[in-house]
Amino acid sequence: MATDNSTRLAGQFALVTGASSGIGAAVAKALAAQGAGVVVNYIGNPEAAQAVVKDITDAGGQALALQADVSKEDQVQAMFQQAIQRFGTLHIVVANAGIQVDSSFLDMTLAQWQKVIDVNLTGQFLCLREGAREFVRRGPQPDISKALGKLLCMSSVHEVIPWAGHVNYATSKGGILQLMKSTAQELAPHKIRVNSIGPGAIKTPINHDAWATPEAEAKLLTLIPYNRVGVPEDIGNLAAWLCSDEADYITGQTIFMDGGMTLYPGFATNG
Ligand code: BGC
Repeated sequence: MATDNSTRLAGQFALVTGASSGIGAAVAKALAAQGAGVVVNYIGNPEAAQAVVKDITDAGGQALALQADVSKEDQVQAMFQQAIQRFGTLHIVVANAGIQVDSSFLDMTLAQWQKVIDVNLTGQFLCLREGAREFVRRGPQPDISKALGKLLCMSSVHEVIPWAGHVNYATSKGGILQLMKSTAQELAPHKIRVNSIGPGAIKTPINHDAWATPEAEAKLLTLIPYNRVGVPEDIGNLAAWLCSDEADYITGQTIFMDGGMTLYPGFATNG
């Protein structure tokens, strides 16, 4: 029997960073489909953000696009203020915005290192902190959500899998592990849940070259025992469930959603 999830997040408001494309857009749509009003954060492409808002509102949901660079404290704070002015409060923050600036280690510049750490790690810190401050300010609403609030970090399989040529990116994701866990430990007494999703290879613009041709996709699939490249909706559905009361006893966890990429597939026929 099919389950109707369309009201699982009813009455809740969510802010999703980096929501104008890829995983963030799918997360925003999935949260909205389950009844949450959603802030679609973007940095550089207002048309793409508006298209996500339109998809949500056309389907009967509530959404608002807000521009902010998540690595800038003043912009993050202004965005949260605007979101709270518009929606009254927030119950869910998904710190999703992330970038890759790839380089061999020997050639990596400080600017390449710093940019990725600023967006992927400091950006998540700033958004988690503003979210937690709002949950505490507002106080419990047990009829709407068992938890005071839910913080969700978008990590990666590279939280645990080393990645040559991407040291800045893998370091940022390794950092998210302790950002998430230490925050979860500190905020659990407030009834704030903090978790991460660790996506594997998901078809989005960030890894376009890795799946755009049949040859590239075949090579990528050698890393995925389940033999399918993920799609953003996979992650959207998990995010919506993790933020719902059905997952109320989960905090401090990374859920890898990767078709088995973290199963060391090289060992299936070796070792
Ligand atoms: C990266 C992608 C990569 C995937 C699996 C993600 O975190 O952003 O570029 O395809 O990990 O390696």
